Amino acid sequence: MTAMVNGESSGGEGSGVGVRVNEVPESDWELWRDLRLEALADSPTAFGETLAMARTKTEEDWRSWWDGRPDAGPRYIASVDGSPAGMCSICFPEDHDRRPLLISMWTSPKARGRGVGRAMLDACVAYCRREGRPQFRLGVVDDNLSALRWYERYGFTLTGGSEPLFSDPSKLVLWMAVSLDSEAETEAAA
Ligand SMILES: CC(C)(COP(=O)(O)OP(=O)(O)OC[C@H]1O[C@@H](n2cnc3c(N)ncnc32)[C@H](O)[C@@H]1OP(=O)(O)O)[C@@H](O)C(=O)NCCC(=O)NCCS
Repeated sequence: MTAMVNGESSGGEGSGVGVRVNEVPESDWELWRDLRLEALADSPTAFGETLAMARTKTEEDWRSWWDGRPDAGPRYIASVDGSPAGMCSICFPEDHDRRPLLISMWTSPKARGRGVGRAMLDACVAYCRREGRPQFRLGVVDDNLSALRWYERYGFTLTGGSEPLFSDPSKLVLWMAVSLDSEAETEAAA
């Protein structure tokens, strides 16, 4: 099984057949926007942003990600046999001490279970390793147990930290992390 990251084989075990992961340039902002709106409609409780919030964004808002913001990292879109099938992004939030944080992870329902998500995680981890980052973090909503277990199988563990979900403060975002130290590989970081 082969997954391609920007044209290079990621070689990740479990990666899906015909999956490509490409970094999204600003010129593809509409593709990113359309997938994001699809993701928010499909999985309304999985993210801090709601579909209603995203629909109010202007072209300038969407494009601003690529304006050299200090919190903005690479965005990735995965394709299966040439069709967009998933998305994710890395950001560097000030309240996470600018450490890399996974956001917007989503695979189209028809493409799930084929290694698309794993290929996108592999692309993010490869980026963090290239940048010499010792740790990669993410937040998962406390009732999204299937995603939480999936991240655990990848090597993330809960840090013990949490905060209320922006779009629904009755829920918690649980922080998870994976250590990228060469000796620790996929052991989780506290
Ligand atoms: C979580 C999510 C991104 C995973 O994406 P994916 O492309 O299905 O991920 P993969 O195919 O790499 O892995 C899915 C796992 O479920 C298993 N699986 C088997 N059949 C499956 C199916 N029909 N659907 C989903 N997963 C299936 C796969 O074998 C794999 O197991 P593994 O972890 O042991 O490798 C996807 O389910 C999703 O978009 N969920 C909704 C949004 C969401 O919750 N995002 C996370 C926000 S923090």
